[in-house]
Amino acid sequence: MNKSDAYNLKYHITPPYGLLNDPNGLAFFNHQYHVFYQWNPKGTEHKHKCWGHVVSSDLVHWQRKSVALEPSEWYDKDGIYSGGGLVHNEKLYLFYTGNVTRDDGVKESYQCAAISEDGEYFQKTGPLFEHPKGYTRHVRDPKVWGDQNGNWWMIVGAQSEDLTGDTLIYKSKDLSNWKCQGSFFEHNSEFGYMWECPDIINFSENDVFVFSPQGLPEVGEYCRNPNQSGYIVGKLSEIGRFNGNLSDFKELDRGFDFYAPQSFKVNDRIIMFGWMSAMNEEAERAVPTIQEGWIHALTLPREIVLSNGVLYQKPLRELQLLRLDGMHYNGEIQKNSVWQLPSLQVELIINFSMLTANFTMKVRDAVQIDYDREQNSLTVWRTNWLTNQREYRKATLNNRLTEIQMFIESSSLEIFANEGEEVFSLRYFLEDTEQRSVLLEAGDNEGEVRIYQLQE
Ligand code: FRU
Repeated sequence: MNKSDAYNLKYHITPPYGLLNDPNGLAFFNHQYHVFYQWNPKGTEHKHKCWGHVVSSDLVHWQRKSVALEPSEWYDKDGIYSGGGLVHNEKLYLFYTGNVTRDDGVKESYQCAAISEDGEYFQKTGPLFEHPKGYTRHVRDPKVWGDQNGNWWMIVGAQSEDLTGDTLIYKSKDLSNWKCQGSFFEHNSEFGYMWECPDIINFSENDVFVFSPQGLPEVGEYCRNPNQSGYIVGKLSEIGRFNGNLSDFKELDRGFDFYAPQSFKVNDRIIMFGWMSAMNEEAERAVPTIQEGWIHALTLPREIVLSNGVLYQKPLRELQLLRLDGMHYNGEIQKNSVWQLPSLQVELIINFSMLTANFTMKVRDAVQIDYDREQNSLTVWRTNWLTNQREYRKATLNNRLTEIQMFIESSSLEIFANEGEEVFSLRYFLEDTEQRSVLLEAGDNEGEVRIYQLQE
């Protein structure tokens, strides 16, 4: 079945059909950016996981390649789960978790590699080491990097036998013999029951540990999604230990739909993609694109910058390549404005020169954004497509709000406040698919609005 224009995303990475989840294996290889993703080509459930594959020369226009990894061996016969990529000696290495359900029903996982010389066909190497003692079968999502002393390091998400989340670290001299070094981030208190998709970002001053802990309790405006993705700023030691405090955990994206992000570094820039969904099975089953045989998308790529202990997630500058010539609208903020969007692929930027009052925006009558001047907070509302109830996510900014930039698609919205100080990513599904208005009740605030139509 073809994707209808009503909900299809044109400038996001989506599956051709079937289900997409985590971004995997991000790498720059043979002059191209490679993005892989968790893909079920056989249906829209979380089964039969393979790695789908797209390539790009600009991180914006993507070309589909054939499936990169699919279950074929005893150690990955029930799914090729998430992992990272790496370029070494002119080869592209992929690290993944092989998922197995034995005949007796017992489930196992194996950390594996696959190597390619052309970036298209991958040779599997098999399991790299034995399952660690003291951990349940939930050990997965290997991410590998090299240090300046010729060592390779791998972190894997894990659940220890006391059913709490953890991350393990392995070390290697040759990318094939790996030795477990213990827990990557030793912590005394419980913090969720499983840590998925660990990642490490190195900056000159600090290192940042990014992970997706499952089962954190909701507190106030925080942790309102079923599972979280966030980070802790700390320091990575030479022996592969991360020193940081759990109490510093910050969520990366404050929207409804963001999980399992992964980053990679190209020419000193750190670029991150996430899965634009939350892990809520019931809501997932009700996503209307399932009727068209596909579900989910990756977020837009973001550039990650560390500033005063906060990770900024800026929309990648290459996204400007999507702008069609000439602006659709460019003008001063009025007290009340309504714009009709020229298409369902739009970028909208508001720069505030004076912000003295609350304001409200409505995007396609589907999403409402409220700014509270006193709290300096943004609250984003949508109607849940399963329950039909209105629901919100809220973030209080550290800096005064100066800019809101949003990327609107037929069924997704990414809102960047203050060049990525806070980001809200979300999906929405309107019944009235022709609804194209954006309303701004700006009050006495002053500033400028720009609207760009984007390529499809
Ligand atoms: C995160 C995750 C990973 C796993 C993959 C399976 O969304 O659960 O931990 O490798 O998805 O698709």
